[in-house]
Amino acid sequence: MKISASFLSSKNIPLDLQKLNDTDVDYIHVDIMDGKFVKNKTMPFREMRHIYEYTSKRLDVHLMVEDPSHYIPLYAELNTECITIHVEIEEDILKDLEMIKSYSIKCGLAIHPDTKVNALIPYLPYLDEIIVMSVVPGEGGQTFLPGTKEKIHELRELLNSYHIPALINVDGGINNITKMECQEADILTSGSYIVLSDNFQEKISSLR
Ligand code: DX5
Ligand code: ZN
Repeated sequence: MKISASFLSSKNIPLDLQKLNDTDVDYIHVDIMDGKFVKNKTMPFREMRHIYEYTSKRLDVHLMVEDPSHYIPLYAELNTECITIHVEIEEDILKDLEMIKSYSIKCGLAIHPDTKVNALIPYLPYLDEIIVMSVVPGEGGQTFLPGTKEKIHELRELLNSYHIPALINVDGGINNITKMECQEADILTSGSYIVLSDNFQEKISSLR
């Protein structure tokens, strides 16, 4: 299992990013919120860009925003492996996915807990990754939602039936207990469980 670490709940981002460099975590999960698609808002890119200099890991960027087309060019300039946008937005999703790919970066779609997996069908051939939200997007430290295991299974069957190799990433409330509900996933994104602990590597290893 691959692990992506979210620093949304971090109390000292530069220090925690440096500590994560010393672990075998696969990606740094970057949560971007605009105060519109979700109620909270993250710092603007111009303030955040220097913080990313503290990590040497590849970034897994999760755009919880109404208008990803404004953010994609900014995050494409970083050491970014994948940019994921939400399937629930009004913007032209195919255009946004094409924009991400134009930078030779992997693209993904994230799905809110209330959205059915069938909403992904029109976009499946374009996707490298799908983020199944296991909490309502908008903040770290929430409790893993029941029904996520069944949703991951439904998505796995959908991907198999269309022969789509996209990876399944589960995001929100992941710890050593809730990971058991995610055995059909490829990547687990975990924030508080790792960054609020005093041994990052031990927590990361417990999720694999
Ligand atoms: C929720 C974010 C998640 C979150 C994960 O809106 O997309 O990435 O930060 O953090 P934990 O593990 O604390 O739920
Ligand atoms: Zn996220």
